[in-house]
Amino acid sequence: MHGYLYPSTPVFAHVATSTLFRVTQTAKALLRWISTEAKHAGVASARASGRVSLVGAGPGNPELLTLKALRALQTADVILHDQLVSPEVLALAAVHVERIDVGKKGYGRACKQPDINALMVGLALAGRRVVRLKAGDPLVFGRLEEEIAALEAAEIDFDIVSGISSAQGAAASLRVPLTRRRSARRFQAITGHASNGHLPDDFDWRGLADPNATTAVYMPKATIGDLCRNLIVHGLPPRHPATAVFNATRANEIVVAADIGTLPQRLGDAGIEGPCIVLLGVPAPVAAHADAETEECAETRSLAQERERSLWLQELALALWTMVLPKSRVPRAAGILNRDVPAPADAPRAVLRV
Ligand SMILES: C[S@@+](CC[C@H](N)C(=O)[O-])C[C@H]1O[C@@H](n2cnc3c(N)ncnc32)[C@H](O)[C@@H]1O
Repeated sequence: MHGYLYPSTPVFAHVATSTLFRVTQTAKALLRWISTEAKHAGVASARASGRVSLVGAGPGNPELLTLKALRALQTADVILHDQLVSPEVLALAAVHVERIDVGKKGYGRACKQPDINALMVGLALAGRRVVRLKAGDPLVFGRLEEEIAALEAAEIDFDIVSGISSAQGAAASLRVPLTRRRSARRFQAITGHASNGHLPDDFDWRGLADPNATTAVYMPKATIGDLCRNLIVHGLPPRHPATAVFNATRANEIVVAADIGTLPQRLGDAGIEGPCIVLLGVPAPVAAHADAETEECAETRSLAQERERSLWLQELALALWTMVLPKSRVPRAAGILNRDVPAPADAPRAVLRV
């Protein structure tokens, strides 16, 4: 006699419940997996289409642009640039590239960092190849950490193309190394401008007053008086060399050679326009061409102005050409602007001595 074993009702109920539970859990896990995959696929497709290059434009002389930066400028869809980026560098971008000035003058009176981040992220998510172009090296006083955080948060692919910083460009113009075996064993970079417009209040004054250091002071104009006074208080002799370089590496470069005792007054008297970097511990240039005096300064300035006028006319001509010609016939690289123009480094510089 064959017998059958039937499960009792409670056992059957238990098996049914646990099976149902397992099926539900599996379904839930499946749904979670599908939704994560879909989300990743969405981000991945946005990432694949748009990306950002954070690029250093160097101090202004277009010949100091890296080849990588040049390639980025010529393959971008849109360039978000700071006001300090020189027109000669911008002229090397492909003609059709959209340029947005996110510095103080162009993109509204005050383009705040969060607005720049949002614009950059939005353009990349819309599939554009974005170049975020910054003066000098973007890794030096460029607020890059905020832009990187915004890009990472939006999962946007990006790279960084370093550039020549203004301190390096200025030192090359002065023909003085930033580090020297005997007299400059430390090279440090500081900002003269904290977010409240004053000197940062956490400076290491002992380190800054080291006579065997070179200190590059970025954004020095508003606080140079306070800085030099404090350095003297912390033991640096008033005759310690301090050289200011305005518009470093550009045709209108002007050098003010002084010391920490006299520099603030000299800068106030000179009233020179343009970006300025101060190199403390870097002596006045001694090269023959740097011994020019005021007469030559005037001549140099007028040469620089003439060159600026000529560049402006060329830009105007190109703009008209762009309007008249069909897009396909507009040259891709706007480097033609500079073809017959001598490199700014060849122009004489003005040096104001104490
Ligand atoms: C926001 S910081 C940017 C620094 C930049 N990332 C660099 O590496 O040079 C702006 C400051 O850089 C300095 N700077 C930039 N270009 C310069 C130039 N061509 N000549 C002199 N100083 C310059 C000035 O001190 C200016 O106030």
